[in-house]
Amino acid sequence: MYNYKTAAAEFLSKSIDSLTVSQIADMLEFPPDKKMGDLALPCFKLSRVLRKAPPMIADGLKADLDGNEDVKKIFKNIESVSGYLNFFIDEATYCETLKDIVADPDKYGSNDMGKGKNVVIDYSSPNVAKPFHIGHLRSTVIGQSIKNLFRFSGYTCTGVNHLGDWGTQFGKLIVAYKKWGSKEDIEARGIKALNEIYVKFHKEAENDKALDDEAREAFAKLEQHDEECYNLWKWFIELSIAEYKKTYALIGAEFESWLGESFYFDKAEDIVKELREKNLLTLDDGAHIVKLDDYNMPPCLILKSDGSTIYATRDIAAAMYRKNTYDFEKCIYVTSAGQSLHFAQFFKVIGLMGYDWEDKLVHVPFGTVSIAGTKLSTREGNVVLLEDIFAEAISKTLEIMNEKNPNLEDKEEIAKAVGVGAVIFHDLSNNRIKDVSFVWDEVLNFEGNTGPYVQYTYARCAGITDKADHKIDTEKLVITSEFEADLLRVLHEFPNKVNQAREELEPSVISRYLLDVCQSFNRFYHDCPVLKAEDEKIRNTRIALVSATAAVLKNGLSLICLKTPKNI
Ligand code: ARG
Repeated sequence: MYNYKTAAAEFLSKSIDSLTVSQIADMLEFPPDKKMGDLALPCFKLSRVLRKAPPMIADGLKADLDGNEDVKKIFKNIESVSGYLNFFIDEATYCETLKDIVADPDKYGSNDMGKGKNVVIDYSSPNVAKPFHIGHLRSTVIGQSIKNLFRFSGYTCTGVNHLGDWGTQFGKLIVAYKKWGSKEDIEARGIKALNEIYVKFHKEAENDKALDDEAREAFAKLEQHDEECYNLWKWFIELSIAEYKKTYALIGAEFESWLGESFYFDKAEDIVKELREKNLLTLDDGAHIVKLDDYNMPPCLILKSDGSTIYATRDIAAAMYRKNTYDFEKCIYVTSAGQSLHFAQFFKVIGLMGYDWEDKLVHVPFGTVSIAGTKLSTREGNVVLLEDIFAEAISKTLEIMNEKNPNLEDKEEIAKAVGVGAVIFHDLSNNRIKDVSFVWDEVLNFEGNTGPYVQYTYARCAGITDKADHKIDTEKLVITSEFEADLLRVLHEFPNKVNQAREELEPSVISRYLLDVCQSFNRFYHDCPVLKAEDEKIRNTRIALVSATAAVLKNGLSLICLKTPKNI
C-alpha cells in the first residue's frame, strides 16, 4: 500500500542528514483544513536540529523539493507558509489509494507492524455475581476495540477477562444463600436474584454483627476448598459467566482467557514471599505494605492484618504470570479512572522488584457514565442493567423501523445490530476519559452523529454498488470534481487513523473519523450522480468511490464493535 507520509519523509531526508526517515515521518502531520495541504511539516520541530528559524527551513526545503522531478509525480504543489511546509497530493496519485481499496477492501487500513509481537488486553473483568451495568459497557467496548485495533495491525492479541471471582464478598454470598436463597429462583433469575440476597445480607448485617463473622468463616472455608462452599462459589461463577456471555455476544466481545482473580490466590502468596526476600515489605499496623513515598504515592497494601492477600497482590501475580506466559510487548488494563492509583501503585511495585518491564504495563482509564444526569451506584441499588438498556434500544429501533420501513426482511436481526450499535457508538464517540451522559434521543437519532447514521450510510453505499452490478476497472479512474477529491482524501486517511487510534489507545479516533467519512460521502453523493453519470470513466470512478466508502465504513465500524447490516 502506498504511503504518502513515508514518501514525503524519504524526499525530505535527502535534505536533512541528521534525522532518519521514520523520525521525519513522525513529524509530518495531517492538517485539519485541506487549504493547508494534505500533509504538513511543522518546521519549528526542526529548528533546534538545523539551527535556523522555521520559515527559513520551510523555504529551503521547498526549494530542494521543487527541483526534484520524482516529487512532482506525487505532490502537485508544495508551499512554505509561516514555518510550515505544506504538501498537496496530486489527485491522480490519490487514485492509487482508490485502486488499493478496491483491490483488497477488507484489508484496507490494516498493516503488519505487530507481526510476531504479543499484546495482552485485560478488559471488561466484571465482579462475579454482581449485575453487569452500563458502566461495564465502557471497559468492554473500549477494550474490545483496542484489541481489534492491535489485531488489525498484525499483533497477536490475548483478551483477558480478569473476573472478580475472589474475595470476602463470596463469604457473604454463601451465608446469604444458605439463609435466604432459593435454588429455583437463582436458576430462573440468575444474577438479579443473587444480587438481591447480597443486598439483603448488608441490610441485615447492620443490626446483626454475627453475620459478618459467619461470612468470614465461610470465606476461610472456601480458601481451604471446603466442598460445600467451593461448589456454591463455582455455581455462582458459572451462572454469572453464562449471563455475561449473552451480553458479550450482542457486543461481539470475545476473550482468549477467563482467568479471574481466584486463579492467583496461591500465586499471590509467592509474591508476598518474593517481596519479603527483596526487603520491600514494611509492617504497618499489622498489615504489610510497600512504601511508595519516593514516588509521591500512598503505600501499596499487600497483606491485610488478618494475613489475607488483596486485589493488588493478585494483580502483581497476574502481571507476572502474563509476562511469563505471553512475553507481552504491552499489557493493557482498561478500567474506570477511579482505579488509576491502584495501577500506578502496583506497576511501581513491579519495577521495585527489579523487573525491567514495568513500562510495558499500561493503564487505560475512562470516565463515568450517568443516565440523564444520575450517577449509577451499586450500593444504592439504582443500577441500570446493560441488558435492559440493550433490550430497550432494540425495541425502540424496531419501532422506528416499523414506521420508516415496515416491509423490511430480518427486521429483528437488523434492529439488534442497530440498537446495540447505537449504544456502543454513543459510548465511543468522545475521548474515553470524558464522562458519558446517556440520553436516549441522542443515542438513537438516525440523523445525528450516531451509530445508526453511520450504519445507514454504509447500507446506502452497499445498496448503490449492488444496484450498479459493475466490475470496477481500476485502469479507468479519473477525478473530475472537488467532492470526489475530498472524499478520496478522507478515505486516504483511514490507515493513519487506525495507527493513531492504536497508539493513543483511543477508539473515539475511529468513531469520529467515520462521521467525517459519512459527511464527505453525503456531500459527494448529493453533488455527483453515480449510476446516472453518462461518461463511462466517471461512472466507473464514482462506483469505485462508493464501494471504497463502503469498505472503509465496514472496516472502521467493525473495529469499534458495530455490525454492518446491508438493509436498514
Ligand atoms: N473487577 C474489577 C472491577 O470491576 C476490574 C478488574 C480490572 N483488571 C485488573 N487486572 N485489575 O472493578
